[in-house]
Amino acid sequence: VKRFLMIALLAPAAWAATPATVPDTMQQRLLACTSCHARSGASEAYFPRISGKPAGYLYHQLLNFRDGRRQAPIMNYLVTHLPENYLRDIADHFAGQHLAPPSLRPSGASRAQLEQGKALVLKGDVARGLPACVACHGTQLTGVKPAIPGLLGLPRDYINAQFGNWKNGTRKAHTPDCMAMITARMSNDDIVAVSSWLSEQPVPASYTPAENISRPLPIRCGSDQP
Ligand code: HEC
Ligand code: HEC
Repeated sequence: VKRFLMIALLAPAAWAATPATVPDTMQQRLLACTSCHARSGASEAYFPRISGKPAGYLYHQLLNFRDGRRQAPIMNYLVTHLPENYLRDIADHFAGQHLAPPSLRPSGASRAQLEQGKALVLKGDVARGLPACVACHGTQLTGVKPAIPGLLGLPRDYINAQFGNWKNGTRKAHTPDCMAMITARMSNDDIVAVSSWLSEQPVPASYTPAENISRPLPIRCGSDQP
């Protein structure tokens, strides 16, 4: 059923053929996305939240999936052949959607790991050329318009997997790819520490990206602008 829904929802020909009895709105069309992206509770172990992320960021990811810079078979399949204006509409839709924050899950990390994670996120490690995450993701970690994502409300396993993808090149952004450079400076222990601490932070009720951040960013990013 899920598979049928996705095909019916995403193939442009099928969209045009939507029976007149079903309201043909963007909301209606994108319901299938929420079967994975708007779940809450214990089953939410991996799927990233997309609601309320900056539109420019979501648009870049949809393009990255379509054009193969980012590999995740289900997402690559869903957006194959979709034109830019379509992807932009989808990005705008989810950027404007604000769902209740997901429930927190304990990461299982030790106190020492959580302290290490917190220090890296808030201060970085100057000696290793590792900027604080907040220097780009916003002092409240809510992300920054137009294209830097917030880091709260993401499952620990999802964050770990993204660092794995940057390490092995299955997730790329336009160059300079700042997250790939940052990942190269992090050990596996750093990554687990950071993902554990982040995944335990409460999501503020009004989780919206900041309007701006002090620039230049500590490392240049090819994808922080539309
Ligand atoms: C069957 C489950 C499933 C469905 C349905 C689905 N997605 Fe995804 N989506 C995923 C997974 C899993 C990932 C994470 C992929 C990875 O590991 O990089 C993802 C990642 C994404 C991301 C990147 C999120 C981020 O924070 O970087 C966006 C944007 C996205 N999906 C949009 C959509 C849209 C729009 C739809 C509907 C057209 C959709 N997805 C339908 C499973 C799904
Ligand atoms: C120099 C700026 C910069 C710094 C510092 C930085 N990031 Fe990022 N980060 C970005 C940008 C830009 C993106 C979006 C990349 C893209 O377009 O794919 C991003 C994306 C991410 C994502 C993907 C979110 C998602 O929903 O898939 C994660 C996770 C992440 N960063 C974690 C971190 C962590 C943890 C740190 C600190 C150790 C950090 N970042 C430091 C700029 C930065």
